[in-house]
Amino acid sequence: MQKVGFVGIGLMGRQITRRLIMAGFPLTIWNRTKERAQEILDAGAAWAETPAACARAAEVVITMVTDSAASEKVICGSGGVLEGAHPGMILIDMGSIAPEMSRSIAAQAKAKGVPMLDAPVTGNPKVASEGKLGIMAAGPRAIYDACLPVFQAIGVKIIHVGEENGMGTTLKLINNLVMGVAIEAAAEALVLAEKAGIDPVKVIEITSVGGARTGAMETRGMRMITHDFSPHFSADNMYKDLSSALNLAEKVGVCLPAASIAREMLRAVKIQGNGAMDSASVVTVIERLADTVVKARK
Ligand SMILES: NC(=O)c1ccc[n+]([C@@H]2O[C@H](COP(=O)([O-])OP(=O)(O)OC[C@H]3O[C@@H](n4cnc5c(N)ncnc54)[C@H](OP(=O)(O)O)[C@@H]3O)[C@@H](O)[C@H]2O)c1
Repeated sequence: MQKVGFVGIGLMGRQITRRLIMAGFPLTIWNRTKERAQEILDAGAAWAETPAACARAAEVVITMVTDSAASEKVICGSGGVLEGAHPGMILIDMGSIAPEMSRSIAAQAKAKGVPMLDAPVTGNPKVASEGKLGIMAAGPRAIYDACLPVFQAIGVKIIHVGEENGMGTTLKLINNLVMGVAIEAAAEALVLAEKAGIDPVKVIEITSVGGARTGAMETRGMRMITHDFSPHFSADNMYKDLSSALNLAEKVGVCLPAASIAREMLRAVKIQGNGAMDSASVVTVIERLADTVVKARK
């Protein structure tokens, strides 16, 4: 089996690396904060002192850190993955980053002889723990084919978007536009029900069947009602993705009114100091506007 290196043991990385270990891939990891990676080391992964050392120990190196700046740093920066480049090595960046950054990283990797896939994912830490991610990869087809065993260990819907780097991260932005707007809609619906005297739990129940069904309501509706905002996908991260989608829209000439509003509401979440909380916390902004708090009836 291919030797895998993994850089970024965050909420997602933790679950993905667990799956890779379960599937039998020899795994070497690096995380900025070593303590947060301890449980994966305990599960059998080897530790690398730098992303470069992680790359030297691996044939397939996966990076999954917060945003464009973090991906660039751990891949192209001092001590980064590309300093550990060696013949036969493949780089997969799974972060949801700006497509132009994916293209820039791919060019820098290519200059070092390293083929790269931008392969962001859909799902959340729970979905990742079940090995059921959606994966949208872009880059050379032969490299995609070579990485399929790794993808199949962690995902169920695996798509080759195209040969051109940046197309994976572009599709991810489009996916998250749907999610970001749906979370905003779910929050608005729950607050409206609350003020109209309807138990918000009944909104979750009735929208679970029929055309109003959304993953946003299914995964976050009850957490909005109980105000459980432990992060599965933070408001900061959703804000980042909607901002990137709006940048793309400006570039290609598309108006995104709903995405703009969803992004602005997440800006309010951030201003109120809750950016690290789950994006479901947008409900608190709508509650304040409506001077109410959603709660389940007895
Ligand atoms: N959570 C989800 O549901 C979900 C779903 C699909 C895609 N994604 C995407 O997956 C990526 C990771 O998300 P996550 O939820 O796992 O985030 P997270 O829990 O916040 O973890 C972020 C990871 O990035 C590292 N990091 C951040 N800035 C860094 C820097 N400057 N240098 C080195 N390492 C840095 C963190 O290291 P430390 O531990 O040291 O902080 C941590 O390992 C993001 O691009 C996100 O948009 C997330």
